Amino acid sequence: MPDQNLLNVLSLPEHAGLLSMFHEKKYRKKELIYHPNHGDNNVFIVKEGKVRIFLASNDKEFTLSILEPGDAYSTHTRAFTQALCDCVLLICKTQDFGQIMMQNPTFAMNTVKVLGDLLKNSFTIITNLAFQNTNQRMKEYLLSMAEDKGILCEKGILIEIGQDTGQVAMIVGASRQTVSSIFSEFCRLGIMERINRKTILITDLEKLKSL
Ligand code: HEM
Repeated sequence: MPDQNLLNVLSLPEHAGLLSMFHEKKYRKKELIYHPNHGDNNVFIVKEGKVRIFLASNDKEFTLSILEPGDAYSTHTRAFTQALCDCVLLICKTQDFGQIMMQNPTFAMNTVKVLGDLLKNSFTIITNLAFQNTNQRMKEYLLSMAEDKGILCEKGILIEIGQDTGQVAMIVGASRQTVSSIFSEFCRLGIMERINRKTILITDLEKLKSL
């Protein structure tokens, strides 16, 4: 499988021409980079930092994807794009990105990977909203985090969720207070412990699964 990280591909001397089609822009932590009605039709690659792609209405937000360095995304979507930390983006016109994709399959592969991840999260969000209450959504969220990021240790499964309560609330489509009280309830039931703001320990996976 070829390297799917576009930064590695663009750093090759033979691709200096491709790199020149992009311009670099810096964004501050929490800055809104693009909103749905943004006029320009661009594709960007995250060079540094992490970028959140989310849908938002007046009182709710749903995170569709967290992009990491090397991931590409576009501005012609209904989603908002926000810098999760200080970020640097490489930006080019969508038309130019289309030309690059035709010449270099890595760019097409990366787009499939990013959109696949986004589709997976969209399926989870739709399923959760349509079929589950908030407790169930939190359970599914923790199980999927345990599977994706969990590290087995003596006391259970340690998960660097990398998101604080407010960010988890946006993922599961609940208020921060609701997520906080469900976390407390899960702790009381002996299912998990909070290690710090962004790290938890699942102490009884079977109990979580049986909820
Ligand atoms: C290669 C050049 C690309 C072309 C020519 C292209 C073209 C299009 C077109 C015509 C649409 C439909 C827009 C509409 O409904 O009005 C679309 C939608 C979309 N594109 Fe692209 N695209 C490109 C690259 C990308 C890339 C790199 C990504 C992300 C990795 C992406 C993500 C999306 C998404 C998520 C939508 C759905 C937007 C929504 O309905 O909110 N596109 N694209």
